[in-house]
Amino acid sequence: MAIREIAQMGNPILYRHAERVTDPTDPEIARLAEDMKYTLIHVGGSGIAAPQVYESLRLVVYRLNPRLLADAADDGEPWMVLVNPELTLAGTADVPGWERCLSIPGLHGKVPRHGVLQMTYQNLDGAEVSLHATGAHAVLLQHECDHLDGVLYPMRMPDLAKLEFNAEPGHLAQDIRDGVEVWPVLQDLVNAWPGRSQWMDD
Ligand code: NI
Repeated sequence: MAIREIAQMGNPILYRHAERVTDPTDPEIARLAEDMKYTLIHVGGSGIAAPQVYESLRLVVYRLNPRLLADAADDGEPWMVLVNPELTLAGTADVPGWERCLSIPGLHGKVPRHGVLQMTYQNLDGAEVSLHATGAHAVLLQHECDHLDGVLYPMRMPDLAKLEFNAEPGHLAQDIRDGVEVWPVLQDLVNAWPGRSQWMDD
C-alpha cells in the first residue's frame, strides 16, 4: 500500500469525465483501492475518488462511519469500494449541508444535495450491487460521484458567500447557532474558532 498524492482544485484531472473500469477484478484496481484507503487513513478523510489520486477512473472508496452514516448497513466491514457507481437521484437537490473536500484543503461550503438516492455499482469481485442511501450517506455519495464527472462542490453552490476558510467558519457558526445539524468535523471547526462570538452567543 502507498499513500498517494492528492490533486488540488485547479488540476485538470479533477475536471475530466473519468473512464469506466473495464474489469473490476483486475488486481491493479484492487491495489489502487487499497492505496486510496491508505491515503484516507493517512489524511483522516471520509471518502475519496480515483481522480483525486491522479487516476481518471470511476472508482470511489469511503469509510462507513456509523456516527455519520446512520442508515448504512453495519456488517462489520468499515470500508466501501464502489466500481462504476451510478446514482439515481430522487426529487430535487433541496437539502443544504456543509461539505469539505480533500482537493480543496482549508475550506468548507454549503451545498444543496438530494436527500435520497438509489445507487448501483460493482464490487471488486465484479458483482452488481444495489444500495439505497439517505441523509449524510446520500450526500457523501453525491460528493464522491461528482468527482467522477469532473465536478467539485463549489460548482454546485448557488451562494458563494457560503464558501469559507476553516479558520473563519462564520456562516457555518450561524447555522449551528440556529440549530442546523452538521457533521461533527464541522462542529469541531466552530468549537475551535476564537471569533465565534461574532455569530454565536456563548
Ligand atoms: Ni471531494
